[in-house]
Amino acid sequence: MKNVGYYNGEFAALEELKIAALDRAVYFGDGVYDVAFIHNRKPVDLDDHLDRFYSSCNLLKIEIDMTREELENVFLSLIEKADEDEKDFILYWQMSRGIGYRNHVFPDNRKPSLFAYIIPKKIADQDKRIQLITKEDNRFYLCHIKTINLIPNCLASEEAKKAGCYEAVLHRGNIVTEGSHTCNLIIKNGEIITHPLDNLVLPSITRKHIKELCIENNIPFVEREYTLDELFDADEILVASTTSVILAADTIDGKKAGGKNPELVKRLQDLYFKKHNMK
Ligand code: PDD
Repeated sequence: MKNVGYYNGEFAALEELKIAALDRAVYFGDGVYDVAFIHNRKPVDLDDHLDRFYSSCNLLKIEIDMTREELENVFLSLIEKADEDEKDFILYWQMSRGIGYRNHVFPDNRKPSLFAYIIPKKIADQDKRIQLITKEDNRFYLCHIKTINLIPNCLASEEAKKAGCYEAVLHRGNIVTEGSHTCNLIIKNGEIITHPLDNLVLPSITRKHIKELCIENNIPFVEREYTLDELFDADEILVASTTSVILAADTIDGKKAGGKNPELVKRLQDLYFKKHNMK
C-alpha cells in the first residue's frame, strides 16, 4: 500500500479507511494529534513526539488507554504494510475522546479512538529560501496542546498560500508567537531567539533539538518575546518543524528579509541533519 491507514484496530489503504460518524473528532474536533518523520523506515525522535502526545492527552483530559509500546506497534505495522520502495514518510496520529452522541460534556463511553496513517514524504529542500506573510494570531489560549482544532491555523496557511508564500508568521499585537504550522525563530547578532514555551506556542520538537544543538555547540539560544520590528530587522528569519526542518526566509510581507547570516543557518541545518543521521 502507498498510504496506509489505521482506525480503532483496523488497517486499510488510507483512502478506503472508514471512521465512525459519532467520533467526537468529527463534530467537535475533540482530540489531539502528533506528527513524526519516518526516515529509512524508522520513526525519528519518536520518544519526544510520544512525550508530547501523552502530555496533550493529559491536558485535554483524554484518558489514553494505550501504552507507548502499543502505539509504537501500530506505527511499526503501518510501516510494514507500506510499499517497500518507499523509505521516508510522514506519520500522523490522532486520538479523540471517543465515540458518542453529540453532547458538550464528555461521553460515558471513555474509550478514546486512535486514527493513524503514513504517507510517503520528503523533507523540504533546506537550500531554498522561503517567503512569509505576517498575520494576527487569533487562536485560543491552548496553543501548547496539539489539539486537532486548527481552524485559525488553516485560515492563516491558506492566506499564505494565496499570497504565494510558504508560511504565515503569527503575532499577538506586536509580539511574534509562531507560524501557522511551524515554530518561528530569528537570528540577530549571532543569537538564536524564539518565543518562550508557554500556552501561546506549541512545544516544537524541532525547536527542542535546535536548542540542544545550540547548547552543545556554544551558540547562544535565547527564549524571550520578540516584536514584529525585530522580526523585520532580523539577520535571518527561520521556520522550523518536523518536515520543514530549518528553513530561512528571504521575504516577509513582500519585503526583503533576512539573508544576513547564511553561515549560521547552514551550520544549524548541518548540525540537525548530522544528529539525526539524515541526508
Ligand atoms: N506542525 N507550531 C505549530 C503551530 C505547528 O503546527 C507545528 C508542527 C510546529 C512545529 O512542531 P514540530 O517541530 O514538533 O514539528 C510549531 C505539524 C508538522 C503539523 O501540524 O502538521
